[in-house]
Order: sequence, then C-alpha cells, then structure tokens
Amino acid sequence: PRKIIIDTDPGQDDAVAILLALASPELEVLGITAVAGNIPLTLTSLNARKVVEVAGRTDVPIFAGCEKPLAHTLVTAEHVHGQTGLDGYDLPDPTLPLQPQHAVDFIIETLRAEPPGTVTLCPLAPLTNIATALQKAPDIAPKIAEIVLMGGAYFEVGNYTPAAEFNIYVDPEAAEIVFKSGVPLTVMPLDVTHRLLVTAPRVEALRALGNRTGEVVAGWIGFFERFDTAKYGSEGAPLHDPSTIAYLLDPTLFTGRHINVEIETTSPLTRGMTVADWWGVTDRAPNATFMGTVDAPGFFSMLTQRLASLP
Ligand code: BDR
Ligand code: CA
Repeated sequence: PRKIIIDTDPGQDDAVAILLALASPELEVLGITAVAGNIPLTLTSLNARKVVEVAGRTDVPIFAGCEKPLAHTLVTAEHVHGQTGLDGYDLPDPTLPLQPQHAVDFIIETLRAEPPGTVTLCPLAPLTNIATALQKAPDIAPKIAEIVLMGGAYFEVGNYTPAAEFNIYVDPEAAEIVFKSGVPLTVMPLDVTHRLLVTAPRVEALRALGNRTGEVVAGWIGFFERFDTAKYGSEGAPLHDPSTIAYLLDPTLFTGRHINVEIETTSPLTRGMTVADWWGVTDRAPNATFMGTVDAPGFFSMLTQRLASLP
C-alpha cells in the first residue's frame, strides 16, 4: 500500500476524508497530524481521535501540531463546522490518547526513516505543520513522494474572502513555503470541490449503508450542509477534503493542468489568493498540478462503496 500522512483540522469533510482513507486497503495511514484551522488545535486533535475510533482504527497514531499560523492570528470557521468542528453527530470522547510527540517532529522523523519517495503527504487544512516541517528540516523535501492537498481556487476564486479559499487564507506564509518547496504538488481547489455536492440522494445512499459510519457521516453532512446550501444556493454542500484521498485511489476521476501558482501574502484585499496561471500567460515555472474537473458520480459511488466496509 501507498504510505500517507494526513494533516488535518477535522471538520466534517476532513473526517470523511480520514474515513475514506481508513476504508481503503491501497493506503497505509502512517499517522494523522492535527493543526489549528476550522477550530482550535485542542478540538482538531480531539476530533481526529474520535474519527479513527468510528473506523475502529485505534492503531493509527494521532499527533497535535501547530496551534497558530506562522505569521498571523488564527481565524476559524465555526460558522461552517459548528462549535465542536464536528457538529451533526455526537460522538463519545475518545479513549485513544494523543501521541506525546509534536506533529512536526513526527512528519520529519517519518520522512527521514522511510525510503525516499515512498511517503505522500495529504494536507486538508492550513499548511502550518507542513511548512514548519520543511523549514525545520529542509532535507525532507526531496524525500516526499508527493503532496496532495485541498486548498486554493482559480475560477471559483474564494470562499472565506472574495479572493481566498479558507485553508490558504488562514496561513498564506505557510502555503508560500509549500508552493515554493519544489516538492511535486497536486492541488484540489474549490473549482473541483464545488462540483462534489452532497445532494439529498447522496446523503440517503450513505445513511442507507446500514452501518454506524453511514449514520455518522450522514449526520455530519446534514449539519455542514446548512451553511453551504444557504451560501451557495446549491443543492448540497461541497465535500472538499475527501477529493485528495479519492485522487490517490483513482486519479482518472480528475483532470488538471501543471501550472505556476503563486500565493499572495501581503495585499489586505487578496491575501491568501492562489494566483494560478491557468492559461500560461507568464513564463513562471510550473510548480503545481491544479485539478480542474472531477467525475462527481464516480467520486460518490467510490465513497459510498468504501465506507460500506467500515463498522
Ligand atoms: C476547506 O476549509 C475547511 O473549512 C474545509 O475543511 C476544507 O478543508 C475548504 O475551503
Ligand atoms: Ca479541512
């Protein structure tokens, strides 16, 4: 199986991404690293432990990482995810303890210990942990197989500000470090994730799985949806983060372009914008594969089938 580390701020859509990964024998989740984002770190690291327990996978170690962005104060998104970050289904407090090691040190030590080019990072949150690891241990950059992240936008522009997507907006300085790192990057921007709408029949298919996971996921999505349907006027909330895991499982569900992407860090108006040269109008070197299309029915049938295998 392909070895991955999931870096996350759960968040209902993060939680679904984690469950999809744990339901997939093609992937070996070496660890889950929590970071501040949708909600503060104490809650993201708590929620990550709750989520692996839903999957019955207490063998997956959970680490807490950075509690604030590199250069700015933390902004959160309780208005989307609720006060707990996982509103919509009440889960018991986890019995799984948090690992004592800092998430950044886990990332560094794992990349140093595993053969080069064998570990993929899947960030689903602000890039603070990943950037801190790259800054602290520049030797890990050539060892990373690939970074497959959810963040940014080009035609869809922003969801947190008119110009910026939430994950990049929260820590643009960290995003800049990652986008300039030279590590192969595959990016799932809003242009892709806004096609992954959890419509009523899709929620029903999850609930109808008959396992607890289906019930939990349907509950989460029911909450998450309230905000997004009102905001976008769409038929269901976009399920952002699981796109990254789906890409690792079946890249043929997506198409994209290898382009140059720069991160705006200074302008108060457009801070956190991913300035993506989709049309190749500059001679700046490509540094990321930005995805542009997704087979949404294919994605949802994969998700539903995979989650059926969990408790
Ligand atoms: C991203 O922001 C978070 O609220 C979601 O979990 C996702 O990672 C979407 O902009
Ligand atoms: Ca997230």
